[in-house]
Amino acid sequence: MTKKLKILILGGDGIGPEVTAEAVQTLRVVADLGGHDFRFEEKPIGGVAIKAKGSPLPDETIQAALGSDAVLLGAVGSNEFNALPPSQRPEAGLLKIRAELGGFANLRPSFAWPGLTGNSPLRPEVVEGADILFVRELLGGLYFGRPREWDKDNNAAWNTMRYTRDEVTRVARVAFELARKRRKRVTSVDKANVLEVSQLWRATVTELAQQYPDVQLEHQYVDAMAMHLMNVPKNFDVVLTENLFGDILSDEAGVITGSLGMLPSATLGGKVNLYEPVHGSAPDIAGKGIANPLGAVLTAAMLLRYSAGLEEEAAAVEAAVKQVIADGARTADLARGDKSVKVLSTQEVGGQVRNVLAARTPAHAAR
Ligand code: IPM
Ligand code: MN
Repeated sequence: MTKKLKILILGGDGIGPEVTAEAVQTLRVVADLGGHDFRFEEKPIGGVAIKAKGSPLPDETIQAALGSDAVLLGAVGSNEFNALPPSQRPEAGLLKIRAELGGFANLRPSFAWPGLTGNSPLRPEVVEGADILFVRELLGGLYFGRPREWDKDNNAAWNTMRYTRDEVTRVARVAFELARKRRKRVTSVDKANVLEVSQLWRATVTELAQQYPDVQLEHQYVDAMAMHLMNVPKNFDVVLTENLFGDILSDEAGVITGSLGMLPSATLGGKVNLYEPVHGSAPDIAGKGIANPLGAVLTAAMLLRYSAGLEEEAAAVEAAVKQVIADGARTADLARGDKSVKVLSTQEVGGQVRNVLAARTPAHAAR
């Protein structure tokens, strides 16, 4: 069946527009091959939006996002705005669009790609076979809790880590449901030996687990988890955690794949799903055409899976990425000074993914 989808593109800052362009081209190829109707619209967010419109999330961007079927975002953040308070920085635009769209379950898969295990600073035998799905709560915790303030008169500042039982239950449910389709294990990460909010988290997750007797639940403290993730990444299947812990652990999980540039994400559960690679705007390499587009391309695959219902096409994009890696075509972040690896540009790697995709698709699909 052909699918019709209105996709809002928010390239954002730094390498955001470069990698997003490759993701969009991938989606165009999928649409052409399958006869799907994907329409794309672009709006500003982050630092570019502050400059053009005076706000990190202009109203027109919010309206376009709410009127779309899926939002594909690049990255936000720029050193230019480092002196500003959090509420005025480019990042505020990202947090606001997350809140407006309402997605609370941020899925961040981390996978040891065959062919990239030598690229991780961890020994290949440690990472080989690792396949983790982080489910990061995205709308609560320290990011959104109140009160929050820097009281300059008193040289004090505070943020609030707050969760309600319902907020924990709804994201935990997503983790248990996803675990059912995988290896049926959930690791819930908290700091229940110190924080009341983590005690609520743990009690809530434990209670919900009774509805999933087929899924094995374990709890880990976040400090120990940071270590286990590097020692025995293969031990984990679905990792469920609150907002800030998930932010930190998902960057750490970039070590498993060999590059933060490989990690995609999808945020589900709200009015419109939001798709963004895990990496940031990388201002140091912006505009050079050397950024790794695969995180964004894999993010497009998640969009096909979760917003278009095109599971086969999503899997085909992932298989194409696997193929391109196996062929040794890499951006600089994946080359690690290895002279046998051909270092390609952002566009060349994106182009190779599209070539593989087009070649794999049976001719009858290309009506
Ligand atoms: C991420 C990013 C964001 C976050 C920033 C840019 C606000 O680090 O998506 O992981 O902290 O959530
Ligand atoms: Mn992050």
